[in-house]
Amino acid sequence: MIISAATDYRAAAKRKLPPFLFHYLDGGAYAEYTLKRNVEDLAQVALRQRVLRNMSALSLETQLFGQTLAMPVALAPVGLCGMYARRGEVQAARAAESKGIPFTLSTVSVGTIEEVSSAITGPMWFQLYVLKDRGFMRNALERARAAGCTTLVFTVDMPVPGARYRDAHSGMSGPNAALRRYLQAVAHPAWAWDVGLLGRPHDLGNISAYLGKPTGLADYIGWLAKNFDPSISWSDLEWIREFWQGPMIIKGILDAEDARDAVRFGADGIVVSNHGGRQLDGVLSSTRALPAIADAVKGDIAILADSGVRNGLDVVRMIALGADTVLLGRAYIYALATAGEKGVANLLDLIDKEMRVAMTLTGAGTIAGITRESLARHVIQE
Ligand code: FNR
Repeated sequence: MIISAATDYRAAAKRKLPPFLFHYLDGGAYAEYTLKRNVEDLAQVALRQRVLRNMSALSLETQLFGQTLAMPVALAPVGLCGMYARRGEVQAARAAESKGIPFTLSTVSVGTIEEVSSAITGPMWFQLYVLKDRGFMRNALERARAAGCTTLVFTVDMPVPGARYRDAHSGMSGPNAALRRYLQAVAHPAWAWDVGLLGRPHDLGNISAYLGKPTGLADYIGWLAKNFDPSISWSDLEWIREFWQGPMIIKGILDAEDARDAVRFGADGIVVSNHGGRQLDGVLSSTRALPAIADAVKGDIAILADSGVRNGLDVVRMIALGADTVLLGRAYIYALATAGEKGVANLLDLIDKEMRVAMTLTGAGTIAGITRESLARHVIQE
């Protein structure tokens, strides 16, 4: 078993949330092989202990696109974030800001771009999916820019939604899904009260606002399947560039050749990611994919990585394998569901502490000092 604050928050979130929502968060695609490997492969990357190197002054700061991050961590885009806690996106964005790191607002969030961006003083990142309706995308980009979002995270690994069987079992998708979710929600009044479900119409704020009509959770999965666009190709990047001049990160890269293409097509960064094992089961864990990608493009483009990160040691491991910055996904949502903004802030404090211990005992005084030399053995590549 892997022990971390995220593990504890996960157990607490499981008790609190209605099953359909917990399993939507916790689950992955098909047999969840990649989901498990993400966590296990990363936890098995052995750090190289070094001692007696005067580690009294440590710095976790890093620069990304001209912004100083207090540590090389950002909160990943997570759809339906506002279902896990009342105004969940706002709470998570505030926690991130208080700890000096960016929050990324998902396309499919409950809080709108304007609501979340106006709740913090600093900039946030915005994540965009490829939808058949290019007017929707253009409108979202214009609103994100107007709201002061600095960085675009363009997610490319969801041209079709992965088959998530847990969602069918739990009542998140499939026949009578809405009824099953309703019954589960009624059985979890503390959660329903917490998210405000009892007090206001709970629609998908962003989607509804773009489409100009209510799009409730009743057919969320159906909406995804109908509207996501399998015709996506590299040429779409040029179209997006017309509407987005700021830094653009391509999220969902798992192959060195795709990473080179991202450089060629003018992206500013990539996220090495398999979407937390929620898309194609059986693909490589990010841990295994990252070293070859770093060999191909390190220094040409910012390398971000996610999938399986649960604590500060994992952040250090990802950086040693070649990442510049690391995204947290489920880890912060478990904390958000359990204890809101305070939970996320506490998780980030713990990650900071864990990183300091790992940096001290691997002899890396700065983030740039964390390299493959910080690892006891290199990850075997496929
Ligand atoms: C996600 N992820 C995701 N990614 C994205 O680009 N847009 C989105 O709306 C979502 N939504 C989403 C919902 C839920 C419930 C999860 C768990 C994940 C993927 C996310 O950004 C990130 O890549 C993964 O969460 C990383 O894996 P771990 O750290 O959660 O294992």
